[in-house]
Amino acid sequence: MPYKILKTDTLAPKNKLIVVDAPMVVRHARAGQFAILRIDKEGERIPLTLADWDSEKGTVTFIFQEVGKTSIQLGTLKEGDELLDVVGPLGNPTEVEKEGTIVTIGGGLGIAPLYPISRAFHANGNKVICIIGARNEELLFWEDKLDSISDELRICTDNGSKGRKGFVSDELKHIMYDEKIHIDRVFAIGPTIMMKVVADTTRPLEIPTVVSLNPIMVDGTGMCGACRVEVGEKTFFTCVDGPDFDAHKVNFDMLMKRQKCFVNEEKRSTEIYLNKCQCAQKS
Ligand SMILES: Cc1cc2nc3c(=O)[nH]c(=O)nc-3n(C[C@H](O)[C@H](O)[C@H](O)COP(=O)(O)OP(=O)(O)OC[C@H]3O[C@@H](n4cnc5c(N)ncnc54)[C@H](O)[C@@H]3O)c2cc1C
Ligand code: FES
Repeated sequence: MPYKILKTDTLAPKNKLIVVDAPMVVRHARAGQFAILRIDKEGERIPLTLADWDSEKGTVTFIFQEVGKTSIQLGTLKEGDELLDVVGPLGNPTEVEKEGTIVTIGGGLGIAPLYPISRAFHANGNKVICIIGARNEELLFWEDKLDSISDELRICTDNGSKGRKGFVSDELKHIMYDEKIHIDRVFAIGPTIMMKVVADTTRPLEIPTVVSLNPIMVDGTGMCGACRVEVGEKTFFTCVDGPDFDAHKVNFDMLMKRQKCFVNEEKRSTEIYLNKCQCAQKS
Protein backbone atom coordinates (compact mmCIF):
# COMPACT_ATOMS: atom_id res chain seq x y z
CA MET A 1 0.00 0.00 0.00
CA PRO A 2 1.61 3.33 -0.97
CA TYR A 3 1.85 6.10 1.61
CA LYS A 4 0.86 9.51 0.31
CA ILE A 5 2.87 12.61 1.22
CA LEU A 6 0.37 15.25 2.34
CA LYS A 7 2.76 18.08 3.16
CA THR A 8 6.41 19.02 2.76
CA ASP A 9 8.34 21.87 4.31
CA THR A 10 11.93 23.09 4.68
CA LEU A 11 12.69 23.93 8.31
CA ALA A 12 16.34 24.87 7.88
CA PRO A 13 18.99 24.36 5.20
CA LYS A 14 18.98 20.57 4.53
CA ASN A 15 16.38 19.95 7.29
CA LYS A 16 13.08 18.87 5.77
CA LEU A 17 9.66 17.88 7.09
CA ILE A 18 7.18 15.50 5.50
CA VAL A 19 3.69 14.61 6.68
CA VAL A 20 2.63 11.15 5.49
CA ASP A 21 -0.76 9.46 5.44
CA ALA A 22 -0.05 6.32 7.51
CA PRO A 23 -3.05 5.46 9.72
CA MET A 24 -1.73 1.99 10.64
CA VAL A 25 1.51 3.51 11.99
CA VAL A 26 -0.35 6.18 13.95
CA ARG A 27 -2.73 3.71 15.59
CA HIS A 28 -0.06 2.41 18.00
CA ALA A 29 2.44 5.31 17.90
CA ARG A 30 4.17 6.27 21.14
CA ALA A 31 6.93 8.74 21.96
CA GLY A 32 10.43 7.45 21.18
CA GLN A 33 9.44 5.07 18.40
CA PHE A 34 10.53 5.15 14.77
CA ALA A 35 9.50 3.85 11.36
CA ILE A 36 11.48 2.41 8.45
CA LEU A 37 10.77 4.10 5.12
CA ARG A 38 11.43 2.97 1.57
CA ILE A 39 10.85 5.41 -1.27
CA ASP A 40 10.54 2.89 -4.11
CA LYS A 41 11.35 -0.69 -5.16
CA GLU A 42 15.06 0.07 -5.65
CA GLY A 43 15.17 2.14 -2.49
CA GLU A 44 17.23 1.60 0.65
CA ARG A 45 15.37 1.26 3.94
CA ILE A 46 16.04 4.17 6.31
CA PRO A 47 14.87 4.62 9.91
CA LEU A 48 13.29 7.94 10.90
CA THR A 49 11.84 8.81 14.30
CA LEU A 50 8.16 9.70 14.63
CA ALA A 51 8.49 13.45 15.26
CA ASP A 52 4.74 13.96 15.63
CA TRP A 53 1.44 12.38 14.63
CA ASP A 54 -2.25 13.18 14.38
CA SER A 55 -4.38 10.27 15.61
CA GLU A 56 -7.60 11.64 14.10
CA LYS A 57 -6.18 12.31 10.64
CA GLY A 58 -3.92 9.23 10.67
CA THR A 59 -0.85 11.25 9.67
CA VAL A 60 2.79 11.03 10.80
CA THR A 61 5.38 13.82 10.67
CA PHE A 62 9.00 12.97 9.95
CA ILE A 63 11.87 15.45 10.06
CA PHE A 64 15.08 14.50 8.33
CA GLN A 65 18.42 15.90 7.35
CA GLU A 66 19.67 15.50 3.81
CA VAL A 67 22.94 13.66 4.48
CA GLY A 68 23.17 11.10 1.68
CA LYS A 69 21.47 9.41 -1.26
CA THR A 70 18.16 8.38 0.29
CA SER A 71 17.57 11.45 2.45
CA ILE A 72 18.44 13.75 -0.50
CA GLN A 73 16.01 11.80 -2.71
CA LEU A 74 13.35 12.00 0.01
CA GLY A 75 13.85 15.76 0.06
CA THR A 76 12.94 16.00 -3.63
CA LEU A 77 9.48 14.49 -3.10
CA LYS A 78 6.46 16.78 -3.22
CA GLU A 79 2.98 16.86 -1.81
CA GLY A 80 0.95 14.14 -3.58
CA ASP A 81 3.98 11.84 -4.17
CA GLU A 82 3.96 8.42 -2.56
CA LEU A 83 6.38 6.31 -0.51
CA LEU A 84 6.40 2.56 -1.11
CA ASP A 85 6.73 1.54 2.57
CA VAL A 86 6.37 3.12 5.97
CA VAL A 87 6.83 0.28 8.45
CA GLY A 88 6.19 1.06 12.10
CA PRO A 89 5.92 2.01 14.79
CA LEU A 90 9.15 0.15 15.61
CA GLY A 91 11.29 0.07 18.75
CA ASN A 92 10.20 0.39 22.35
CA PRO A 93 8.44 3.57 23.43
CA THR A 94 10.40 5.80 25.82
CA GLU A 95 9.65 4.83 29.44
CA VAL A 96 7.80 7.79 30.90
CA GLU A 97 7.16 7.79 34.66
CA LYS A 98 6.25 10.59 37.04
CA GLU A 99 9.67 11.24 38.57
CA GLY A 100 10.00 14.98 39.25
CA THR A 101 12.36 17.12 37.23
CA ILE A 102 13.41 15.83 33.82
CA VAL A 103 15.94 17.55 31.61
CA THR A 104 15.34 16.62 27.98
CA ILE A 105 18.13 17.43 25.52
CA GLY A 106 18.01 17.52 21.73
CA GLY A 107 20.90 18.37 19.46
CA GLY A 108 20.63 19.09 15.73
CA LEU A 109 18.03 16.80 14.18
CA GLY A 110 17.44 15.36 17.67
CA ILE A 111 15.24 18.40 18.31
CA ALA A 112 12.48 16.68 16.28
CA PRO A 113 12.07 13.44 18.30
CA LEU A 114 12.57 15.44 21.50
CA TYR A 115 9.14 17.01 20.97
CA PRO A 116 6.91 13.91 21.54
CA ILE A 117 9.26 12.66 24.29
CA SER A 118 9.20 15.96 26.23
CA ARG A 119 5.43 16.19 25.68
CA ALA A 120 4.97 12.71 27.19
CA PHE A 121 7.11 13.54 30.27
CA HIS A 122 5.21 16.81 30.74
CA ALA A 123 1.80 15.16 30.31
CA ASN A 124 2.79 12.67 33.04
CA GLY A 125 3.18 15.46 35.58
CA ASN A 126 6.95 16.02 35.44
CA LYS A 127 8.68 19.39 35.42
CA VAL A 128 10.40 19.43 32.05
CA ILE A 129 13.45 21.58 31.32
CA CYS A 130 14.14 21.25 27.65
CA ILE A 131 17.56 22.12 26.19
CA ILE A 132 17.98 22.33 22.43
CA GLY A 133 21.12 23.09 20.51
CA ALA A 134 22.39 23.56 16.99
CA ARG A 135 25.44 24.95 15.22
CA ASN A 136 23.65 28.26 14.62
CA GLU A 137 20.23 29.95 14.87
CA GLU A 138 19.36 29.10 11.26
CA LEU A 139 19.42 25.38 12.09
CA LEU A 140 16.99 25.62 15.02
CA PHE A 141 13.32 24.71 14.54
CA TRP A 142 10.17 23.89 16.54
CA GLU A 143 11.12 26.24 19.40
CA ASP A 144 7.45 27.28 19.73
CA LYS A 145 6.26 23.66 19.85
CA LEU A 146 8.87 22.69 22.46
CA ASP A 147 8.13 25.81 24.48
CA SER A 148 4.43 24.88 24.57
CA ILE A 149 5.04 21.47 26.21
CA SER A 150 7.92 22.25 28.58
CA ASP A 151 8.26 24.28 31.78
CA GLU A 152 11.45 25.90 30.51
CA LEU A 153 13.06 25.94 27.11
CA ARG A 154 16.77 26.71 26.95
CA ILE A 155 18.57 27.28 23.69
CA CYS A 156 22.25 26.87 22.82
CA THR A 157 24.12 27.57 19.60
CA ASP A 158 27.77 26.79 18.91
CA ASN A 159 28.35 30.30 17.53
CA GLY A 160 26.17 32.18 20.03
CA SER A 161 23.72 33.44 17.37
CA LYS A 162 20.85 32.49 19.73
CA GLY A 163 20.72 31.55 23.42
CA ARG A 164 23.86 30.36 25.24
CA LYS A 165 27.04 30.28 23.18
CA GLY A 166 28.19 26.71 23.60
CA PHE A 167 27.00 23.13 23.68
CA VAL A 168 23.87 21.66 25.25
CA SER A 169 26.16 19.97 27.78
CA ASP A 170 27.38 23.43 28.92
CA GLU A 171 23.78 24.42 29.71
CA LEU A 172 23.31 21.08 31.50
CA LYS A 173 26.42 21.73 33.61
CA HIS A 174 25.06 25.21 34.42
CA ILE A 175 21.79 23.67 35.66
CA MET A 176 23.66 21.04 37.70
CA TYR A 177 26.45 23.10 39.24
CA ASP A 178 25.51 26.83 39.11
CA GLU A 179 21.74 26.66 39.56
CA LYS A 180 22.05 23.46 41.63
CA ILE A 181 18.66 22.22 40.40
CA HIS A 182 17.90 18.66 41.48
CA ILE A 183 17.45 16.55 38.33
CA ASP A 184 15.67 13.18 38.52
CA ARG A 185 16.44 12.10 34.95
CA VAL A 186 18.13 13.33 31.80
CA PHE A 187 16.97 12.19 28.38
CA ALA A 188 19.20 13.01 25.38
CA ILE A 189 18.89 12.48 21.65
CA GLY A 190 21.11 13.80 18.88
CA PRO A 191 24.57 13.23 17.41
CA THR A 192 26.35 10.31 19.09
CA ILE A 193 29.23 12.48 20.30
CA MET A 194 26.71 14.82 21.97
CA MET A 195 25.04 11.90 23.77
CA LYS A 196 28.47 10.64 24.91
CA VAL A 197 29.33 14.06 26.37
CA VAL A 198 25.94 14.26 28.12
CA ALA A 199 26.58 10.81 29.65
CA ASP A 200 30.02 11.96 30.87
CA THR A 201 28.45 15.13 32.32
CA THR A 202 25.81 13.36 34.43
CA ARG A 203 27.99 10.39 35.51
CA PRO A 204 29.76 12.13 38.46
CA LEU A 205 26.41 13.03 40.11
CA GLU A 206 24.90 9.64 39.12
CA ILE A 207 21.89 11.29 37.48
CA PRO A 208 19.93 8.55 35.66
CA THR A 209 20.45 9.32 31.97
CA VAL A 210 18.80 7.77 28.94
CA VAL A 211 19.93 8.16 25.32
CA SER A 212 18.19 7.17 22.11
CA LEU A 213 20.76 5.42 19.90
CA ASN A 214 20.99 5.68 16.12
CA PRO A 215 23.16 2.89 14.70
CA ILE A 216 22.83 1.75 11.09
CA MET A 217 19.64 -0.28 10.73
CA VAL A 218 18.50 -2.51 7.91
CA ASP A 219 15.41 -4.62 8.70
CA GLY A 220 14.40 -3.01 12.00
CA THR A 221 13.02 -6.29 13.31
CA GLY A 222 15.97 -7.88 15.11
CA MET A 223 16.89 -10.24 12.22
CA CYS A 224 19.99 -8.76 10.55
CA GLY A 225 22.17 -7.65 13.48
CA ALA A 226 23.21 -4.40 11.75
CA CYS A 227 22.10 -2.26 14.69
CA ARG A 228 24.07 -4.17 17.34
CA VAL A 229 25.36 -2.02 20.20
CA GLU A 230 27.27 -2.77 23.38
CA VAL A 231 25.63 -1.65 26.61
CA GLY A 232 27.06 -2.71 29.98
CA GLU A 233 29.36 -5.13 28.10
CA LYS A 234 26.34 -6.99 26.73
CA THR A 235 25.21 -6.94 23.10
CA PHE A 236 21.79 -5.56 22.21
CA PHE A 237 19.94 -4.95 18.96
CA THR A 238 18.82 -1.33 19.02
CA CYS A 239 15.75 -1.87 16.84
CA VAL A 240 14.11 -4.38 19.19
CA ASP A 241 15.89 -3.82 22.54
CA GLY A 242 16.06 0.01 22.20
CA PRO A 243 16.41 2.59 20.88
CA ASP A 244 16.63 3.94 24.47
CA PHE A 245 19.49 2.74 26.69
CA ASP A 246 21.20 3.66 29.96
CA ALA A 247 23.69 6.31 28.78
CA HIS A 248 26.23 5.47 31.47
CA LYS A 249 26.60 1.91 30.13
CA VAL A 250 26.71 2.54 26.36
CA ASN A 251 29.96 1.86 24.49
CA PHE A 252 29.77 5.08 22.43
CA ASP A 253 33.21 4.59 20.83
CA MET A 254 32.14 1.28 19.32
CA LEU A 255 28.86 2.83 18.14
CA MET A 256 30.69 5.71 16.42
CA LYS A 257 33.07 3.26 14.73
CA ARG A 258 30.19 1.11 13.46
CA GLN A 259 28.29 4.16 12.17
CA LYS A 260 31.25 4.88 9.85
CA CYS A 261 31.50 1.29 8.49
CA PHE A 262 30.09 2.11 5.05
CA VAL A 263 31.28 5.70 4.57
CA ASN A 264 32.96 4.98 1.21
CA GLU A 265 29.95 3.09 -0.19
CA GLU A 266 27.59 5.85 1.05
CA LYS A 267 29.71 8.54 -0.56
CA ARG A 268 29.81 6.63 -3.85
CA SER A 269 26.08 6.00 -3.84
CA THR A 270 25.37 9.73 -3.19
CA GLU A 271 27.73 10.72 -6.05
CA ILE A 272 26.06 8.29 -8.47
CA TYR A 273 22.59 9.59 -7.48
CA LEU A 274 23.58 13.27 -7.82
CA ASN A 275 25.25 12.60 -11.20
CA LYS A 276 22.08 10.88 -12.43
CA CYS A 277 20.02 13.90 -11.31
CA GLN A 278 22.37 16.30 -13.14
CA CYS A 279 22.17 14.19 -16.34
CA ALA A 280 18.36 14.07 -16.13
CA GLN A 281 18.25 17.88 -15.73
CA LYS A 282 20.49 18.40 -18.79
CA SER A 283 18.53 16.09 -21.11
C1 LIG B 1 16.23 4.76 15.23
C2 LIG B 1 16.74 5.81 14.29
C3 LIG B 1 16.02 6.96 14.11
C4 LIG B 1 16.47 7.96 13.23
N1 LIG B 1 15.72 9.09 13.11
C5 LIG B 1 16.14 10.05 12.27
C6 LIG B 1 15.35 11.23 12.08
O1 LIG B 1 14.27 11.39 12.67
N2 LIG B 1 15.81 12.16 11.21
C7 LIG B 1 17.00 11.99 10.52
O2 LIG B 1 17.36 12.87 9.74
N3 LIG B 1 17.74 10.90 10.69
C8 LIG B 1 17.35 9.91 11.52
N4 LIG B 1 18.11 8.78 11.65
C9 LIG B 1 19.30 8.63 10.79
C10 LIG B 1 18.86 8.29 9.36
O3 LIG B 1 18.31 7.01 9.32
C11 LIG B 1 20.06 8.42 8.40
O4 LIG B 1 20.43 9.78 8.32
C12 LIG B 1 19.73 7.93 7.01
O5 LIG B 1 19.57 6.53 7.01
C13 LIG B 1 20.82 8.34 6.04
O6 LIG B 1 20.65 7.69 4.80
P1 LIG B 1 21.19 8.35 3.47
O7 LIG B 1 21.09 7.35 2.37
O8 LIG B 1 20.53 9.65 3.23
O9 LIG B 1 22.70 8.69 3.81
P2 LIG B 1 24.01 7.79 3.67
O10 LIG B 1 25.00 8.51 2.84
O11 LIG B 1 23.63 6.38 3.31
O12 LIG B 1 24.51 7.77 5.17
C14 LIG B 1 24.88 8.94 5.90
C15 LIG B 1 25.01 8.52 7.36
O13 LIG B 1 23.72 8.16 7.86
C16 LIG B 1 23.77 6.99 8.67
N5 LIG B 1 23.01 5.91 8.01
C17 LIG B 1 23.08 5.50 6.73
N6 LIG B 1 22.24 4.48 6.49
C18 LIG B 1 21.61 4.25 7.66
C19 LIG B 1 20.62 3.33 8.07
N7 LIG B 1 20.12 2.41 7.23
N8 LIG B 1 20.23 3.35 9.36
C20 LIG B 1 20.70 4.30 10.21
N9 LIG B 1 21.63 5.19 9.88
C21 LIG B 1 22.08 5.18 8.63
C22 LIG B 1 25.25 6.60 8.77
O14 LIG B 1 25.78 7.12 9.98
C23 LIG B 1 25.88 7.26 7.59
O15 LIG B 1 27.24 7.54 7.76
C24 LIG B 1 17.70 7.78 12.52
C25 LIG B 1 18.43 6.60 12.71
C26 LIG B 1 17.97 5.62 13.59
C27 LIG B 1 18.75 4.38 13.77
S1 FES C 1 18.16 -3.43 12.15
FE1 FES C 1 18.48 -5.53 11.81
S2 FES C 1 18.64 -6.33 13.83
FE2 FES C 1 18.17 -4.24 14.13
